Amino acid sequence: MRPIQMVDTKTQYHKIKSQIDSAVSSVMESTAFINGKPVGEFAASLSSYLGVKHTIPCANGTDALQIAMMALDLQPGDEVITPSFTYIATTEVIALLRLKPVFVEVDKQSFCIDPTALEKAITPKTKAIVPVHLYGQAAPMEEIMTIAKKHGLSVIEDNAQAIGCDYTFPGVEKIASASARKKTGTIGHIGATSFYPSKNLGAFGDGGAIFTDDDRLADKMKMIANHGQSQRYYHDIVGCNSRLDTIQAAILDIKLKHLDEYIAARRKAADFYDRAFAGNKRLKIPFRAGYSHHVFHQYTVILDVADDADPAGYRDGLHRFLADNKIPSMIYYPVPGHRQKMFEQFHVASQQMPVTDWLTQRVISLPMHTELDEEQLGHITAKVNEYTIK
Ligand SMILES: Cc1ncc(COP(=O)(O)O)c(C=O)c1O
Repeated sequence: MRPIQMVDTKTQYHKIKSQIDSAVSSVMESTAFINGKPVGEFAASLSSYLGVKHTIPCANGTDALQIAMMALDLQPGDEVITPSFTYIATTEVIALLRLKPVFVEVDKQSFCIDPTALEKAITPKTKAIVPVHLYGQAAPMEEIMTIAKKHGLSVIEDNAQAIGCDYTFPGVEKIASASARKKTGTIGHIGATSFYPSKNLGAFGDGGAIFTDDDRLADKMKMIANHGQSQRYYHDIVGCNSRLDTIQAAILDIKLKHLDEYIAARRKAADFYDRAFAGNKRLKIPFRAGYSHHVFHQYTVILDVADDADPAGYRDGLHRFLADNKIPSMIYYPVPGHRQKMFEQFHVASQQMPVTDWLTQRVISLPMHTELDEEQLGHITAKVNEYTIK
């Protein structure tokens, strides 16, 4: 059996090695390392794939979120609502910009922001919502957009984990039509994504992008990403320096052509896992929402353990048992945002988040990538079942 990895970018690279190597070498020959032609070409390809008017490439997914927030003319102390159960990048940039992160609960099944909790958290100071399409499945965008419209709020989608995911607007008459479907990252006012190497569309280094259909926001975000420049050496607003390297853009443009095939491979592995865990009562397989295609950035299961039976200890035991059997696994995320020390200043640690706390003690993510074969999947599922079915 080939060694099992959490993410196998090397085997994936070897399948398209000649195309990648020739694209990289042509950037080297051109020496246009910054803002070379492939950057614009990749942005155009991605806009067309997603069906969005503007794609603004930038240095990473964290910058993408930061630039999006900087474009919204928010004032210090303005509130931005976001789930507590997410990667730190989503919430960190809110505090970095001297805004106030307001943490809300997620849905126990979908892991995404709970619209009821979201609406309850709105105050006169709320200005924006950042839903996260966690693990590769869309947040309930129709409900979120309806709430945002009602309260005049901006929506920035954190699409770092769900590039390529199709969201279907619920509603009987809409279901049949193509207009009922949109790619995540293009539904809110702005979408942000990451091309971190392990992402579904991963670069060979850091990278990110921002999406919008709004011309004014697009112009502003382009300026912000480029030192607030309107023309060279004329800086109208405070910005930053956030660029996607030409080499990364050239690689990503090739990998984008394979994205749907990569998603299909991830879904095939997820189907294998689902089947193998079907009779296992100790373990909840990922919920598949009717409104969203799941692109399985992660395959995350919930261990069904009672509160008084040390759920985190049981879960961590599985993590160690798998490691002893040469199977990597990850805990995404052991500490939710509202309990992070960095947010102490907002006095959120005592906030009641029973669902988030429940999940952080029970989730575990299994190896998920495009190159898993049946022998590897068979071994992983046999060991997970061995530990959990006793
Ligand atoms: C949900 C989420 N948001 C934001 C980011 C930040 O992306 P990057 O690592 O490219 O800055 C990530 C990446 O890990 C992520 O998973």
